[in-house]
Amino acid sequence: MLAPPGPREVEVTVAAAGVCHSDLHVTTGEWEVPIPTVLGHEGSGVVSAVGKDVTSLEVGDHVVLSWVANCGSCRQCTAGRPVQCSTYAEVISPNGVLFDGTSRLSVGGLPAYHYLGVSSFAEKVVVPDSGAVKVRKDAPLQDIALLGCGVATGMGAVTNTAQVPTGATVAIIGCGGVGLSCVQAAKRAGAARIVAVDIVQSKLDLAVRLGATDTVNTAGGSDPAADVRDVVPDGFDYVFDAIGRVTTTETAISLLGLGGAAVIVGMPPTGSSARFDPLALAAADQRILGCNYGSIVPHRDIPLLVDEVMSGGIELGPLISGRRPLSDAAAALDDLSSGGALRQLLIPELASATS
Ligand code: APR
Ligand code: ZN
Ligand code: ZN
Repeated sequence: MLAPPGPREVEVTVAAAGVCHSDLHVTTGEWEVPIPTVLGHEGSGVVSAVGKDVTSLEVGDHVVLSWVANCGSCRQCTAGRPVQCSTYAEVISPNGVLFDGTSRLSVGGLPAYHYLGVSSFAEKVVVPDSGAVKVRKDAPLQDIALLGCGVATGMGAVTNTAQVPTGATVAIIGCGGVGLSCVQAAKRAGAARIVAVDIVQSKLDLAVRLGATDTVNTAGGSDPAADVRDVVPDGFDYVFDAIGRVTTTETAISLLGLGGAAVIVGMPPTGSSARFDPLALAAADQRILGCNYGSIVPHRDIPLLVDEVMSGGIELGPLISGRRPLSDAAAALDDLSSGGALRQLLIPELASATS
């Protein structure tokens, strides 16, 4: 059951929900969340009801869901860093609730929980008004669901977190929805070398189509770092870990050249520790940058990304490997886990073949 929106909350009828690796982290047990939870944190839709005191949205607005709703008044929010909102971090994300500390979801009269304040694997969601970003109505509503997480995270990592300059040498480890978005942004930034790294050849082929200058398939290789270093022996200006395993983070740091920066975009399991040589890092003037949600400002950046989609600057089509009914959610998570699928969209409007 979904309760109606409370004050400063809106109900959104979901057009599409993207299946992201951060949903998989929950089903594999790498991240713990309150259960039962409704997964999904990437999505788009149409506002179908508004709660009291909502002034920024009205019924009929097209929105992309942001998985960091922000309170607007904490120190980080007032400093212009809404994805670091401390109220969100203290209330919403660990407890599976909305800003007032309660959930709008229930099963059999008992509470169920929101995932990252979104829970988009559903026909409808109720989210804080700051978690729904109004966008232009002529954009393809299903496809722009991807701007809510994968594309914003990958492109933001390059543009906001790292601020990659023209002529830089870049490596991107992992070419899923997030990594391929890093590739597109690195191309847009004018990077001289964009080396895409993955263990699935079809993902590397797509990376080339989206702007990679070189690819390295590390499947079966005994030393992935050595294989990538062969391509740019001086080391890279920027390396993006778009997977977030301890091994890929360590590889990213080891691939840096003088003055290089490793950007940790993918999220590892809770409690992980990676090793690096601090003396070598300091001596080479290198940096390790954490990147949450592409360091974006959702209400500023998501509409800009929509504009870029409409002008042809960003391609979403190649990132979408399937459109499936909502009842396929578990199978879609399995397909992402096996490495075969890219971004799959769950579309509530599509009826299941078996239903
Ligand atoms: N070396 C290289 N590539 C690998 C390896 C490896 N050891 N292991 C997996 N990959 C590739 C997969 O083949 C796939 O193309 O990494 C990619 C991961 O992509 P997705 O599963 O589609 O993940 P994505 O949704 O892009 O998210 C990546 O960012 O948002 C975070 O939490 C999320 O940690 C996740 C990361
Ligand atoms: Zn995600
Ligand atoms: Zn805040």
